[in-house]
Amino acid sequence: MIVNTELEQKGNLFPSKIINYKKDVDTLHFSTKNGVALQVTVVRDSVIRFRYSTTGKFENDFSYGVTIHASRGYSFLDVTEDETHYNITTSKLICKVEKQSLQVSLFDAIDNKLINEDEIGFHWEECYQHGGDIVKMSKTCQKSESFYGLGDKPVDVNLKGKRFENWATDSYAFGKNTDPIYKAIPFYTAIQDNKAYGIFFDNTFKTSFDFAQERRNVTSFWAQGGEMNYYFIYGPQMEDVVKNYTDLTGKPHALPPLWALGFHQCKWSYYPEANVKEVTNTFRDLKIPCDAIYLDIDYMDGFRCFTWDKNHFPDPKRMVKELEDDGFKTVVIIDPGIKIDLEYDVFKEALDKDYFCKRADGPYMKGKVWPGECYFPDYTKPEVREWWSGLFKELIEDIGVKGVWNDMNEPAVMDVPNKSFPNDVRHDYDGNPCSHRKAHNIYGTQMARATYHGLKKYAYPKRPFVITRSAYSGAQRYTSTWMGDNVATWEHLAIANNQAQRMAMSGFSFAGSDIGGFAEQPQGELFARWIQLGVFHAFCRVHSSGDHGAQEPWVFGEEITDIVRKFVELRYQLLPYLYTSFWKYINDGTPILKSLVLYDQEDIATHYRSDEFVYGEQILVCPIQEPNAKGRRMYIPRGKWYNFWTDDLVEGGKEMWVDADLDSMPMFIKEGAVIPKYPVQQYVGEKKFDEITLDVYYKKGKESSKLYDDAHDGYDYKKGRFSLRTFKVTGKKKELIIQQHKRGEFNADYTKFNMVFHNLPFAITSIQIDNVEIKLENINTAKTQSITIDKEFTELHLFGK
Ligand code: GLC
Repeated sequence: MIVNTELEQKGNLFPSKIINYKKDVDTLHFSTKNGVALQVTVVRDSVIRFRYSTTGKFENDFSYGVTIHASRGYSFLDVTEDETHYNITTSKLICKVEKQSLQVSLFDAIDNKLINEDEIGFHWEECYQHGGDIVKMSKTCQKSESFYGLGDKPVDVNLKGKRFENWATDSYAFGKNTDPIYKAIPFYTAIQDNKAYGIFFDNTFKTSFDFAQERRNVTSFWAQGGEMNYYFIYGPQMEDVVKNYTDLTGKPHALPPLWALGFHQCKWSYYPEANVKEVTNTFRDLKIPCDAIYLDIDYMDGFRCFTWDKNHFPDPKRMVKELEDDGFKTVVIIDPGIKIDLEYDVFKEALDKDYFCKRADGPYMKGKVWPGECYFPDYTKPEVREWWSGLFKELIEDIGVKGVWNDMNEPAVMDVPNKSFPNDVRHDYDGNPCSHRKAHNIYGTQMARATYHGLKKYAYPKRPFVITRSAYSGAQRYTSTWMGDNVATWEHLAIANNQAQRMAMSGFSFAGSDIGGFAEQPQGELFARWIQLGVFHAFCRVHSSGDHGAQEPWVFGEEITDIVRKFVELRYQLLPYLYTSFWKYINDGTPILKSLVLYDQEDIATHYRSDEFVYGEQILVCPIQEPNAKGRRMYIPRGKWYNFWTDDLVEGGKEMWVDADLDSMPMFIKEGAVIPKYPVQQYVGEKKFDEITLDVYYKKGKESSKLYDDAHDGYDYKKGRFSLRTFKVTGKKKELIIQQHKRGEFNADYTKFNMVFHNLPFAITSIQIDNVEIKLENINTAKTQSITIDKEFTELHLFGK
């Protein structure tokens, strides 16, 4: 060990007083007497970037996390100087930089209230071992402040009092509080005094976050190298913080094909072909809807990526086609480890072209994964990504595979203590050469990015579908994700619930868990309860390690099979609702799942809730997370909600008991909502239907709902071939009015809406559609009243007595 007493004694170092200031359009440059430079860039009125250098010189400004498509521009910017501070004012924020210490404080520009301030602020420690600094930031934590986000952390929703690390790690059978696991998403939102702000620490080195754990009144974050470079994102609504973060790091480049929002079945592994067919046939026989079947590593020849085991899959193209004819899309796994084998063309080509990662002194980065010893492509090099994308031609264009599953991309290495590359491995980092210390956390994202570009190209004119295990901020632009190797326990069901919520508020809504648990085997009851949760996650896939027996929906007996069918059918009925939520997500960054704090931050009772969430905008869900339950207590957010199963109306803002036998789960619809439903299909596109249902939940007052639609695949929607319907419901004592406004050129196959009215407080005496009275016998007056009408109505008016 190197001991350098002089350096060690230096300890934490701090900026001294500002001696220079310059304004350059949207960026203010400050420098201090001891050579520290601070750049403050106004990205938007509510987004300010802070970048510090301890040498006075900044690194090349390059980020994998921030997208070039991020919105920029502000409506107002003013800088003033007084004796003690520089004051930067936008229409949303006032940022004060203290002249003696470089400390920063941020205020709401409307009411001048403090939002967040540096405690000791920026400081650093020199890092003799690697050069550069360990860069640190400490901020004051207010008494009532709460913290959320940070990607896949397997902990309760509120992060206060905890400390975390971001270092993507293969974490087989992780547990509650295991940290770090697969992803590195250095973004959190804090709420204090009904004001929410976010911090995105865009640094790919190992980063740490302490939310008032070490010291009760301090929140801090630091990195093992690189720059102190963070974005301060102001709300004051948490939803706006998340939207702005998602805008900064990118929304998904395209909507997923609708089939990708269906139900997926996976196992390690389905093989040979007969086994795959047996599974898919059973789905159809038992009438459990399913859209995708996965092939795990055993489809390959000796785990060589882009090859097939011809004994088990003699004619993949034929098989994939037959599966497709039966409504199943085939998704295959592709890992980063390329088997060292001079007879293997992928290996040979990468070797010849010098595409593999190397150690500091030149040897290849050699590590064991499934195929045995492997080399690993350096996906941080544009040329390597381009080559990798090209490798998908045969799989996608010729064989007809529809989705690719990227795994082990932390990157995972077996039989070594740190489970990954050593730190000295070199990376191109898009022309900013560096060691693995800097590239580790984005390795998986760059692999998924290269995969995505391959699929995009070869699936064209259809949309690509990619899923990744590891991710850094911004990966959501290219891919969906799952939470890795969880366990079939009740505790893991709760973890999966929290992770999916957390990912959604970390800008990554297209996420889900291995339903039923990857390791070990669930009891039927656990499996059923997990399905009930999983159908409300944007990515919905059963997966298991397969070494403990089967985990298909039918292996737990008839009762469980029926429950699974019921909930998977519900997912398929709600597909237009999910698709609309997805459209909102890619359009303006609205998270598909909303933890209660995100849904109603003003109600402080929501700040520590972890189980309940709002799916889309209007469906409240709370999974049962215990065995033998007949229901549970849950918090109903403020407002009025209809019990989905009974139509009973409840007033929120309180905790209550909700019945939920094994074939049910707590689920509520916001009053006034219009919920679109498709008929049940066994797979997306199975049927052409002439009508869809709109469930209208009466409200005295107003509520607005949306329905987005398009061709469910392809890119025509980007050219205006979509339809966006807004339904405005106005309920009065003896009247209900539904006004429809439509935008976009797409015309769906269905021509009618079956309007189903829930809980009308009056008996209908007359109905007008676009001012024309229609005959009352057209109304179905069974328990719920319904009427089928042309989908292009403008105003539907019910009168009653
Ligand atoms: C990893 C993945 C898992 C996969 C297995 C075999 O453990 O997380 O999903 O089934 O590798 O490929």
